[in-house]
Order: sequence, then structure tokens, then C-alpha cells
Amino acid sequence: MLFDTHAHYDDPRFDGIRDDLLASMPGKGVKYITNIGTDLATSRATLELTRKYPFVYGAAGFHPHEAKSMTDEALDEIVSMLGDGKIRAMGEIGLDYYYDLSERDVQRAAFARQLEIAKELDLPVVIHEREACADMLDILSASGVRRGVVHCFGGSRETAKILLDMGFYISFTGAITFKNARKAYEVVPYIPSDRIMAETDCPYLTPVPFRGKRNDSGYVHLVAEAIAQLKGLDPEEVARITLENGKRFFRL
Ligand code: NI
Repeated sequence: MLFDTHAHYDDPRFDGIRDDLLASMPGKGVKYITNIGTDLATSRATLELTRKYPFVYGAAGFHPHEAKSMTDEALDEIVSMLGDGKIRAMGEIGLDYYYDLSERDVQRAAFARQLEIAKELDLPVVIHEREACADMLDILSASGVRRGVVHCFGGSRETAKILLDMGFYISFTGAITFKNARKAYEVVPYIPSDRIMAETDCPYLTPVPFRGKRNDSGYVHLVAEAIAQLKGLDPEEVARITLENGKRFFRL
């Protein structure tokens, strides 16, 4: 049984098939899923999904792309969701200087503010970072938050070491199955077994050999198998380890 620790079932690409697809997951070996909000609307949708499916948990927050939509009012509503029993993390939050869909100073302020809230509420954070590594490490370090995961990790071993030393988990998607994922060969074996998680980030990042098709949690075993291969472990062992880590991280 596997844990898909990062999914976006609120995405319109699941319209019309969402319920059938989610209902099929336990039969496909998926024990738990964490749906991750990216703004107010998707965090509300996440809350709905957690109420509907016993195996779906959630995270609520403002993704760096949506940082510009983080008004005080919207943030208050997110905070009220964090008090709900099945919303177990603040996320996804972070910095994205690749797309720059919100101004960088707006992104940094939203990231820092949400870290402050997560710390107050003693909740873990789910972090998205792209081409903003130095600022992410500075803001994280200053925040005092030490419970979190950097999702879809594509950074270096040096960055991974800094994050691990701060107490963070590292999570991998189907991107580690892509032919150009050279960094993963060096980084995945380096992550200790008690700090690694598997995720699909569906509907994005479908693992090989299904790359290009819409992703769903039914493919999370391909991520676990890629981790197993890179770490020289049995796939069953990686399934067990990543399930345990996900349960510990989200306090299931
Ligand atoms: Ni995501």
C-alpha cells in the first residue's frame, strides 16, 4: 500500500472522472492521498474532498503563483480550515522565480507570513520552490519552522543536506523517472530512508512510461519503484517506508 503525499484532485482536468477515479484508488494499492491547495478556491475544494473520502487528507495555503491573491480575509479563511481535523499541513507555499506569476517581494512576504502561521499552529508545511533556492533557505532558516517537506525536489545534494539538517523531509515525483533527471541519481540515494516521501503531483508530472498522459495516484508506485532502484532497495520496502513517513509527517 502506498501514500500519494501530494495531489491536486481539484484540478479541472479531473472534472467528470474525479469521483470514479478517487473511489478506485484503494483498489489500486493507494492507502492515503494528501490533496494540496494552492489558493482559497482549491483549499476549499481540498476540504470538500477530505470530507467525502476517508483516505483523503489535505493541506491549505497559497502557492507562490497565487501569492498575489492572499488578502487578509482569504488568509483568515485558510487559517479556519487549518483547524479542521483532516487538513494536516499548510501548503503549498514557497517561491517560484521561474514563472514569476506573483511579484517576488509578494511571494516572499506570503511565504514568510504562512510559515509564521504554521509555526504558531504547530503544523508542517509543504514547500514548492523553483529557481529560488537561496531565498527559500534564508526565509525557512529565519522562520524557525522545522517541520516541512520540499515537494518535487529537483535541487542539489548540498541543498538537500541543508534541508535535512534543518529537519525537513524531501519528496519526489515522477520527474525522477524522466531521462534528463540526472540530479536524481545523485540526490535520491543520499536522502535517508526516514525522510523521503513519494508523490504524484497529479495531474502533472506523469511518470515514465506514461509521460504525457494525465497523471493520477494510481501511478505513485512508479515513483516508489524509481526511488527503490536509485537507492538499491526493494520496491516493497520503499512502499512501506514512504507510507510510514507520510503517516508520521501528516500525523495520521
Ligand atoms: Ni503541487
